Amino acid sequence: MQSLTVALIGANGQIGNFILHELLASREAQFHVLAFIRPNSQLKYRGPQENVTVHDTDISKVTADSLAPYFRGADVVVSAVGAELLSRQNVLQDAAAIADVRRFYPSEFGMHSVLRMRTEEATLIHPTWAQKMKCLDEAMKHPAVVSGRMSYTVIGCSDSFDAPGEILLCPWEDPNAMEYNMYAVGDANAKMDFTSMRTTAAYLVASICRPEISENRFLAFSGDFISIAEVADLLRSHSGKKVSVHEIPWEQAEDIIRNPSLAPPELVKASNFPVDFLIALRHVQGSGTMWRAPGQTHNSLFPNVKHQSVVEYFSYLFGKLGDSGP
Ligand SMILES: NC(=O)c1ccc[n+]([C@@H]2O[C@H](COP(=O)([O-])OP(=O)(O)OC[C@H]3O[C@@H](n4cnc5c(N)ncnc54)[C@H](OP(=O)(O)O)[C@@H]3O)[C@@H](O)[C@H]2O)c1
Repeated sequence: MQSLTVALIGANGQIGNFILHELLASREAQFHVLAFIRPNSQLKYRGPQENVTVHDTDISKVTADSLAPYFRGADVVVSAVGAELLSRQNVLQDAAAIADVRRFYPSEFGMHSVLRMRTEEATLIHPTWAQKMKCLDEAMKHPAVVSGRMSYTVIGCSDSFDAPGEILLCPWEDPNAMEYNMYAVGDANAKMDFTSMRTTAAYLVASICRPEISENRFLAFSGDFISIAEVADLLRSHSGKKVSVHEIPWEQAEDIIRNPSLAPPELVKASNFPVDFLIALRHVQGSGTMWRAPGQTHNSLFPNVKHQSVVEYFSYLFGKLGDSGP
């Protein structure tokens, strides 16, 4: 079994913590994880710690030179930073280059989209996606990549249905909910890609284990192809609780995107994301364009990683099968 060292930035984050767990559970390689978390916080991992070194480091304050010694000896650096730290990702990659790390994974784990307005002749790229696109471009064109000293792997997916704590987008994640409210824009029956974060993390780990396949590639991992109305039906049948789908009209959604202060109070601060981003996301999903065409996904490169469907996840979550979860 190969032995690999991975520096993971954001190891307590939504996607980062799934990546941490998948690395340490891998049967394909023996991983040692350099887990970077916020100062004075505890690593969210209950298993044996002998293959983990925790660094509680304020990433907003480090320089590439001060961080590089911590990356020395790592085979891979994985950036799982969120919006708060995304503008610092170049520092992480610079540090990886100084430390001679051969592979960098920028924080992607999504699908940026162009929003085509319905009420005016206009298209829009939401600032959250614009920032992701900029940082991704910079990572793939980093001088160390261009010179061949480092390579990159990008893992794309779609909106995720198992994002911990994201109870507006994934209301089933609230263990205390008496009933569920789901929000769609325009058309709740439009189909979209809907991925599991856990299996996306497993896919990333599989790609680390086969560096020759994943070198300098954007690998998209697709999940379920399903509509919000279908998810609501599954949620109803699995939870036995009341599920309401609120279909926000295109006009109202676009007013909120232009002026987020118009958002209904129940949508504000209920998510880690700004409300206009949530509405933009649901707008693209309602438009029926948030999925990847045949040939644009790469699940088959790592066939041992099976994507999880919403029905499998709900079966696990609501305890009916009990064996398809993490
Ligand atoms: N596909 C999807 O549905 C989906 C959903 C969410 C995110 N994403 C993508 O996944 C990527 C990661 O997002 P995320 O939501 O997982 O991020 P996140 O949960 O915000 O995780 C970021 C981690 O960074 C830590 N952190 C923040 N500031 C720090 C600092 N100054 N120093 C050290 N650590 C710090 C946070 O610590 P604390 O835990 O202590 O706050 C957190 O654990 C992004 O590219 C995002 O766009 C995709």
